Amino acid sequence: MADLATDRLPLFPFRSPGDDPFTPVAAADRRRLDGPVTRVRLPTGGWTWLVTRHGDVKQMLRSDAFSADATRPGFPLLRAVSPQAPQFTKGGFIRMDGEAHLRLRRMLTAEFMIRNIRRIEPLIGDVVDGALDATEAAGPPADLVATFALPVPSLVICHLLGVPYADHPFFQRHSTTLLDRSADPMRAREAMLGLRGYLGALIEGKRSSDRPGEDLLGRLVAERVHTGELETGELVGMAVLLLIAGHETTANMIGLSVLLLQQYPRVWQRLRDGDQDTADAIVEELLRYLTIVRTGLARQAVRDVEIGGRLIRAGEPATALLSLANRDDTVFEDADAFDPYREAHQHLAFGFGVHQCIGQPLARAELRVALTRLARRLPGLTVAADPARLPRRDTSVVYGVAELPVTW
Ligand code: HEM
Repeated sequence: MADLATDRLPLFPFRSPGDDPFTPVAAADRRRLDGPVTRVRLPTGGWTWLVTRHGDVKQMLRSDAFSADATRPGFPLLRAVSPQAPQFTKGGFIRMDGEAHLRLRRMLTAEFMIRNIRRIEPLIGDVVDGALDATEAAGPPADLVATFALPVPSLVICHLLGVPYADHPFFQRHSTTLLDRSADPMRAREAMLGLRGYLGALIEGKRSSDRPGEDLLGRLVAERVHTGELETGELVGMAVLLLIAGHETTANMIGLSVLLLQQYPRVWQRLRDGDQDTADAIVEELLRYLTIVRTGLARQAVRDVEIGGRLIRAGEPATALLSLANRDDTVFEDADAFDPYREAHQHLAFGFGVHQCIGQPLARAELRVALTRLARRLPGLTVAADPARLPRRDTSVVYGVAELPVTW
């Protein structure tokens, strides 16, 4: 495909600088980029156009000239895949295009709207309080990832979907494997089959019951599967997507946010003492600054299209690098500085366009409630490890710290 020596291109994804978990792309890697839309080499062979400016990323993600279907030959993959049968990815609408994508997404839109999320805020509060009790019982010191950051979003999404949280060691392990781009392709395939098997059995139980339940999966069985609008296999794929997206992402944001706020004690204090608007503004800047989906969003052009003055031809791969778009100085003044007083709401941490994160109102509420209650309950929280030495999830599609030892 390449008309130039691909092996001379910079290798993507970049590794974050060893000692700084908050810089998404090292200055040396930035310097190697030959312009705002430039080619980089992929670990699976081949290359992709890396799109890095805020405006260009928006243009790319809202354009119907790009497909998100990873089963297309030539799609920019970060991990080799064993050939995927259609039933293997069925229902995973994050990787679907056009009407097929919208049909499934629409079935969930109302569920994740702000007014519905407001209704479940008391539940989020209870879950957060329970995780704080567990953290206090475990320490000091305690591993905040294990006692707080992971359980909070995991318990919430389990409750919403109607998935037993007691099974979390199983689905946690499989979803971590699926997000790890260094995982062996066969292991990733087994993880997907394991999750599909697990959620398939759960959904089958609801389907054959007279009372499928009041949770989201139960209601989708009653309102969509029983009416013939949705195939069971599609619902299984939607459930896998929600379960993975619903906990790994927010969990990594909580851990990384706590680590960053160690450097900003006054912001920590404002989280503790401030009102909801203050906390919302801090969360927005954390989302921009940390941009945990650091490997960017992969697409493939389905027709010739110009992005940032570059012609991207039909069939060519492209990757929208959200983390650099969120550090674009033309949109965010002094973009490399963490500044909770700025207007950060234009950030692209949740993507943009038709695939923009459906769970964002839930993620925002979880982050606000988790961080404010943590700051109130444990105001003297201190990370009890050298931040530069903390184990990172740097081969994961969703960046974060794997452990966070804290005292208080
Ligand atoms: C801080 C937390 C989160 C971040 C940073 C995040 C980020 C993203 C991003 C960047 C996308 C776009 C993917 C693309 O265009 O290819 C996305 C899509 C998605 N997210 Fe999230 N997400 C978060 C939390 C959640 C939660 C809590 C849920 C659960 C309900 C969720 C469910 C989804 C789903 C289902 C999609 C696919 C939407 C579609 O294809 O139409 N996310 N997310």
